[in-house]
Amino acid sequence: MILDVNVQNKYQVIIENGILKKASSYFNLDRKVLILSDSGVPIVYSEAIKQQCKEAVTFVIDQGEQSKNIDSYLQVMKVLVENEFTRSDCIVAVGGGVVGDLGGFVASTYMRGIDFYNCPTTLLSQVDSSIGGKTAVDFLTYKNIIGTFYQPKCVLIDTSTLKTLSARQFYSGLVEALKMGITSDPKLVDLIDNNKGHLFKVIDEVIFRALSVKKEVVEKDTKEQGLRQILNFGHTIGHAIESSSDMKLLHGECVGLGMLYFSSKEVKQRIISILKKYNLPTEIELDKEEIFKYIKHDKKTRGNTINVVFVDQIGKYRIENISLDSLKEILDKENLNA
Ligand SMILES: NC(=O)c1ccc[n+]([C@@H]2O[C@H](COP(=O)([O-])OP(=O)(O)OC[C@H]3O[C@@H](n4cnc5c(N)ncnc54)[C@H](O)[C@@H]3O)[C@@H](O)[C@H]2O)c1
Repeated sequence: MILDVNVQNKYQVIIENGILKKASSYFNLDRKVLILSDSGVPIVYSEAIKQQCKEAVTFVIDQGEQSKNIDSYLQVMKVLVENEFTRSDCIVAVGGGVVGDLGGFVASTYMRGIDFYNCPTTLLSQVDSSIGGKTAVDFLTYKNIIGTFYQPKCVLIDTSTLKTLSARQFYSGLVEALKMGITSDPKLVDLIDNNKGHLFKVIDEVIFRALSVKKEVVEKDTKEQGLRQILNFGHTIGHAIESSSDMKLLHGECVGLGMLYFSSKEVKQRIISILKKYNLPTEIELDKEEIFKYIKHDKKTRGNTINVVFVDQIGKYRIENISLDSLKEILDKENLNA
């Protein structure tokens, strides 16, 4: 399956089982290539790319969000300088959102920008972070606070890489696809709802439909000035739950809970039933004061108001600017306590 992303520098996303072995048909690997991966990603995926390169350097960071920082950024920069990469060379990221965000950020700033190719290997990165051009590292206590908008040259989604992903990571990533469906694509919601037990058979379509939602939004709002906010459905409270859980809960698990606060009764019931099917949390003990503190510090908060996405009916959303007081009421009213 091929998806064209029509932003200023157009690029293709190719979704195919086993496609990493054919990367040289899509990427220009006839130059110096830095392959960036992390220690949790099976090395065979980087090796598959390396075998097709004229001259490759592989750099592996420690797995986990804690590596998405300025130290890793400087380490990768050092590797590029020491290996005399020029402006006509390139970076290939092989891994999840951490490697993709870091690799994209390095590519966007090394010599003012070199080519960046992305090979996402987690479901979250395949349905979401690999397109849209947001790159970042975390700094101090802030997530994604330093970054750029920089589009990849091409994205290869090899669905066979999902076979080595833990079930928990897989289902957490599935929530981001569910989110796209809830706001914009009822058929995607049905696909997820009706295929528990044989999701791999329809995974290409799940990824394609989720990315299609994101692509539509990104094409209209490349730099997140309006419409792109729908991608944040479930994230306002989700992010706060993630931070207050000391990262014990995965991102998608928190987004799943976060969506419940901004859905009509009917939509909420449907989300809960799907989350339960995939063993995702639907209840949590919350310190609401603490959650609210995190929300107030969210970078999307503007003064005393915040834009939030509501879904009254699957496939239909509305973005509203509400006061922090109203948000607190929503938080207080909803009881997700286990
Ligand atoms: N740029 C964007 O638009 C955007 C959007 C959403 C999220 N993000 C970012 O994405 C990051 C989260 O991404 P993630 O959920 O992919 O996490 P991740 O990159 O940390 O990957 C999760 C874990 O899975 C392992 N892994 C990766 N691929 C594997 C495979 N095929 N088999 C076995 N293990 C594998 C990794 O080593 C890691 O331990 C966050 O930093 C978030 O901020 C960015």
